Amino acid sequence: MTKEQINALNQQFKDASPIELITFFLDKYEDKIALSSSLGAEDQVLTQMVTSIKSDASIFTLDTGRLFPETYDLIDRTSKKYKTNIQVYFPQPTAVETMVKEKGINLFFDSIENRKQCCNTRKIEPLKRAFKGLDAWICGLRADQSVTRSEIQLIEWDENNNIVKINPLAFWSEQDVWDYIDEKGIPVNPLHKKGFPSIGCQPCTRAIMEGEDVRAGRWYWENPDTKECGLHKK
Ligand code: ADX
Ligand code: SF4
Repeated sequence: MTKEQINALNQQFKDASPIELITFFLDKYEDKIALSSSLGAEDQVLTQMVTSIKSDASIFTLDTGRLFPETYDLIDRTSKKYKTNIQVYFPQPTAVETMVKEKGINLFFDSIENRKQCCNTRKIEPLKRAFKGLDAWICGLRADQSVTRSEIQLIEWDENNNIVKINPLAFWSEQDVWDYIDEKGIPVNPLHKKGFPSIGCQPCTRAIMEGEDVRAGRWYWENPDTKECGLHKK
């Protein structure tokens, strides 16, 4: 898609609801679009939305092997509730074995380079496989989540992956997300109530303190401007 086409679509959908936006793109891309879900609160909203529009819409998740037990439980509960087969992508076993052999099981605490290597092996490589055959992916990014996300648009061209990226909740607030979850009775990770607004891998996520940024608990030992795992780099 050209820059002009993306701009025109952003203009067209600027006042549309996420449901209208998703309906348009599920119809446009048919079996070449999928929701990428981490099972976070935003992604749970999107799972409810996409399955209510199209019961067999594709949803995938990247299981890094280091997720919280509560997240695995939620994959199961969500699949059952929405009668959807969330496709789980795992990292390549040999790549993980080599990395761990060379750098240790918790290599990510030693340097940003190591942390990125781990994210690459456990998330990015599986994501590339998940993209095979897709023309568009739907994500749960919101502009007010962090400094690295303030510029996001509803519809973007994902240069790193040569694919259209759709962020239906780009302009929703955290409150909008929780209001929708309550209204629709959507299952969520119990960790959210324990101070974890943003949940990734267990060793790389901590609870946040009062007044902290919602993503402050992710890679909490790094600076805010390095804290993207590569899934959403500019
Ligand atoms: S992350 O890049 O820092 O991990 P975050 O947890 O805020 O991202 O999630 C942003 C969006 O990235 C999610 O709404 C989802 O679309 C996608 N995403 C993140 N982690 C995963 C995952 N493990 N599997 C699938 N999609 C994911
Ligand atoms: Fe590895 Fe942590 Fe990245 Fe998960 S978030 S893939 S454990 S560095």
